[in-house]
Amino acid sequence: MITQKASLYKGKGEYPVLGERPIPSPSEEQVQVKVLSAGVNPLDWKRIEYDFVVNPIWPQILGCDVAGEVSALGSKVENFKVGDRVLFQASSEDRNQAAFQQYAVQNHDLISKIPNHISDDRAATIPLAGFTALVGLFHYTGLGLHPPRELQVRSRPRPPNTTSILIIGGASNVGQFAIQYAKMVGFEKIITTASRENHELVTKLGATHVIDRHTCDLAEQIKEISGEDLRYAFDTISNDETYTTALRALADRHPVYFACVLPVPEDMSRFPKKADGSEWKAVFASPQQWRELGVQFYKVIGTWLETNQIKTPESVVMPGGLDAVNEALKMVKEGKVSAKKLVIKPWAS
Ligand SMILES: NC(=O)c1ccc[n+]([C@@H]2O[C@H](COP(=O)([O-])OP(=O)(O)OC[C@H]3O[C@@H](n4cnc5c(N)ncnc54)[C@H](OP(=O)(O)O)[C@@H]3O)[C@@H](O)[C@H]2O)c1
Repeated sequence: MITQKASLYKGKGEYPVLGERPIPSPSEEQVQVKVLSAGVNPLDWKRIEYDFVVNPIWPQILGCDVAGEVSALGSKVENFKVGDRVLFQASSEDRNQAAFQQYAVQNHDLISKIPNHISDDRAATIPLAGFTALVGLFHYTGLGLHPPRELQVRSRPRPPNTTSILIIGGASNVGQFAIQYAKMVGFEKIITTASRENHELVTKLGATHVIDRHTCDLAEQIKEISGEDLRYAFDTISNDETYTTALRALADRHPVYFACVLPVPEDMSRFPKKADGSEWKAVFASPQQWRELGVQFYKVIGTWLETNQIKTPESVVMPGGLDAVNEALKMVKEGKVSAKKLVIKPWAS
């Protein structure tokens, strides 16, 4: 059996250890990728600490963001060749797709080539955050906004004169993509919240109004910019404080559309009530689950990157290869990473 190095998550609640496991072989529709950069996400530590056992086969492998080089092809794959630089999102349900190992596999239609000017480390910032923001803004399980013309998804027309959107947490990885998508579809006022040191970044990405998230009365500050008619908000942070801010800022006299990244609280009574017909949705960013959108995303993201319509978040490489996974998870969990994606290099182990 040919093995590879992998970060093995061996049992509920235990942080992973470096070990070996078989190299996954591609099925006939799959591509095998040598993982050169693996992005670290909040989901990775949450899977350990909140016991999301999505696949009961142990050891599990964590990591959803893969960037690397095609190393083998299934017999039916025609759109890639060995050596192509590619990126994809791993499903949490299949450890053979996961990022914190040296080789991973994915279906050929949920993979994108990486343009030459984008490094592997930058490419590893894209899959989960880029798709989460896409679902948040354009899928019917999110805000259901009319998408950029390259995407065909079910959407509803925007009510006339709705030119503003609120994106809570513009500096988060998800927020950085959300701002850029909002700009692509022509919102005139893109209002966001971020720490002061990230205001320049989010402005460059397309935010038109940035509020220091550490100040008071955020909702009042947002309303001063948007007026009383704000209908759309996407909360990329999703805690009681951010929910309250967004709901207070959203209009009272019309139905409003609010999407968030964590489950909607069961008890909504502590939050401001909105007009009948309002929607509050939690997104689930799985290209496998929302396959139609997933396939379209992986067709179009390469072009958006190539033409600089979309810029990636900054990446920071953790020294130590797969040995650095736990330190990276701890840094993300403790909120020590601002406006960046930590990246693991599995071959530096
Ligand atoms: N539902 C899904 O399918 C799905 C998919 C992906 C992610 N998520 C969830 O989405 C959340 C964001 O993920 P991520 O990868 O984008 O996180 P991230 O980049 O690690 O988030 C860190 C950023 O959050 C910002 N932040 C923290 N608290 C804030 C607040 N109260 N207001 C505004 N900004 C705040 C910080 O901004 P400053 O540095 O400017 O302070 C920081 O830069 C996580 O909870 C993650 O688990 C859900």
